[in-house]
Amino acid sequence: MKALVLAGGTGSRLRPITHTAAKQLVPVANKPVLFYGIESIVEAGITDIGVIVGDTAAEIRAALGDGTRFGARVTYLHQERPLGLAHAVSVARDWLGEDDFVMYLGDNFIVGGITGFVESFRKRRPTAGLLLTTVDNPGAFGVAELGPDGEVARLEEKPSAPRSNLALVGVYFFTSAVHTAVAGLNLSARGELEITEAIQRLIDEGRTVRATTITGYWKDTGNVHDMLEVNRSVLEMLEQAVEGEADEASHIIGRVRIERGARVERSRIVGPAIIGAGTVVRDSRVGPFTSIDEDCTIDRSEVESSIILQGASIVGAGRIEDSLIGRSVRITGSDEAPHGHRLVLGDHSQIRIAA
Ligand code: G1P
Repeated sequence: MKALVLAGGTGSRLRPITHTAAKQLVPVANKPVLFYGIESIVEAGITDIGVIVGDTAAEIRAALGDGTRFGARVTYLHQERPLGLAHAVSVARDWLGEDDFVMYLGDNFIVGGITGFVESFRKRRPTAGLLLTTVDNPGAFGVAELGPDGEVARLEEKPSAPRSNLALVGVYFFTSAVHTAVAGLNLSARGELEITEAIQRLIDEGRTVRATTITGYWKDTGNVHDMLEVNRSVLEMLEQAVEGEADEASHIIGRVRIERGARVERSRIVGPAIIGAGTVVRDSRVGPFTSIDEDCTIDRSEVESSIILQGASIVGAGRIEDSLIGRSVRITGSDEAPHGHRLVLGDHSQIRIAA
């Protein structure tokens, strides 16, 4: 069995972070979201991994390399334009050959991994296997309608009038029969080749499409709110470790990880929180639910429920909360008049100022 991991796409809902970085590489508890997916694939015993890449190919390649660090063999498959999930399958057609495969959307996050689902697909071997979960906003996803025996009766992509609250999770299992269904697709109203439609074709042909409703935690990290929520839930499972330095005037409370080479001075860190290598936290308060990546400076500020990317500096900035701060961003407080805010923000930045 092979794995096809999708790491293309534009990440429009995570702008401006995604103007300069791949959405799958935004870190959760200081580790790219994509790594959690790759690790769970390898854990399920699948080591032959095809990664679909687009405009951010160079960055994804630099992060995953040839896969050795994950105990896998990674093959890169280039998708010229993000034309949908089924298009990605067609790009990988030759590489996949006649093998069964799991398709894993690189921005999806499933706590507890996929080992059990891989095993049951291997054992029962339906034409396709889906994972579903109940959501409050089904219209934002692919939605499944189940028949009387729990079989998948109908699928609809982002319906305006959803017939159930069962959303398709971004992990799919396929036999090679999917390729014929994909080859017959036309572009949808949103201009994509929809995997949801390909699976509907399999259902219409009378093939077995099984679904498992998962109860564990799942998120599509496509937007900032979900990203912060995944960060919170991963931090809850963090192993506590203080490998960096914290001086005697600092208070480290609860589940806190301070990585080697990080320094905490006269500060209060409330877990769950992680402070990356090379970061300095001085006269500040950090946490809970906060991930601060490597080489950041947090000075005379408070940061809570946030993700701060590499090299950012937050100095005399008051209180920052529920925020996603990009690489090398500088936020500085000032007591000087005039008291207006001075901003240099990239395209599609979002800021909410305490007025
Ligand atoms: C895609 C699928 C959708 C599925 C979702 C899961 O949506 O088209 O059916 O529910 O992934 O993350 P997209 O990310 O393209 O909006």
